[in-house]
Amino acid sequence: MLPTQQPVLRRFWYPVMPTGRLEAGPQPFTLLGEAIVVWRKPDGSLAAIADRCCHRTAKLSLGYLEGGNIVCGYHGWTFDGTGKCVRIPQRENPENTGRIAVDGYKAVERYGHVWVALGEPLCELPHVPEAEDPGFRRIDQFYEEWAIGALRLMENSFDVAHPAFVHRSTFGDTSRPLPPKLPTVVEGKWGFDYFVESEVSVRGPDAADTLKVAEGTTTRRRTNTWYMPFVRRLGITYPNGLRHTIVTAATPIADDRTMLVQFCFRNDTEEMASTEQVIAFDRKIIEEDRRILEGCSWDVPLAVVDGEEFHMPSDRPGLAMRRKLRELLEAHGEQETRAAPPIPPIAAE
Ligand code: FES
Ligand SMILES: [Fe+2]
Repeated sequence: MLPTQQPVLRRFWYPVMPTGRLEAGPQPFTLLGEAIVVWRKPDGSLAAIADRCCHRTAKLSLGYLEGGNIVCGYHGWTFDGTGKCVRIPQRENPENTGRIAVDGYKAVERYGHVWVALGEPLCELPHVPEAEDPGFRRIDQFYEEWAIGALRLMENSFDVAHPAFVHRSTFGDTSRPLPPKLPTVVEGKWGFDYFVESEVSVRGPDAADTLKVAEGTTTRRRTNTWYMPFVRRLGITYPNGLRHTIVTAATPIADDRTMLVQFCFRNDTEEMASTEQVIAFDRKIIEEDRRILEGCSWDVPLAVVDGEEFHMPSDRPGLAMRRKLRELLEAHGEQETRAAPPIPPIAAE
């Protein structure tokens, strides 16, 4: 599927950047191939509009803020948070702008991040109860671009067979390749939940210290929730009562580029595990994923095409994602789009 070619995907919320970035002024982002500019208005609310001035196409993100509006850095045309042009300084009556406007989008702040929907949202933002629980702290872990398709990253977050191999240097163990017993996937309209319990290796003092368990193995109880199309929330409970909730979003920049946005909530303290320590531990793990995933094809097929990819039982969550996305497209009258097949080489004479 090519996310940028499926209009219904514009009708979901995506985290596009940590809100702290807006302190430096208006910020550009590319969401589903659409260049947008985001800023914070004086009343604290957020604005997102097309990052393309409708006078001579300058990037509005190169302009500056004036009140709650953005001023184009080229000739000073000014746009409000809905995209409407409210001032053309060269006109005798500058406020006389008629119906001149650029596209405006929905933007809200949640969990320390800017979330944007390009179209009318079909469902709510993911709800993370730990965010309101004073017993938890939030750590912003990753905000970085990966050369992969968003669905490839999402599927990987639910793939119980990969840790034994991909994470063999951290918590995986190739001598135990059998994935845990498959959970029942409980489907909802906009995603699914599943519950799984597995033994993981705790190797090295770093891991033991971050998890506050002895080296060896420990049990992880995980509740993994998928929010259509590209957000998941992983709740992990360890036997010692430590709880981690990790939110991972694969925000689609383009069909082959994804912004990995990850933040977590933990019920321990900075003294027990410092922010740097937590990030460094997960950094090792995601680099292991990245190395493999960036080498995979970014165009993930939704349709089960004979022979294109073969499957095994542990692929079930990913296959459920593909099916639900297929149903979503169908419900909105869309066909799955795919990358053009490579042009076959001309056979030598
Ligand atoms: S290009 Fe923006 S005001 Fe001219
Ligand atoms: Fe992984």
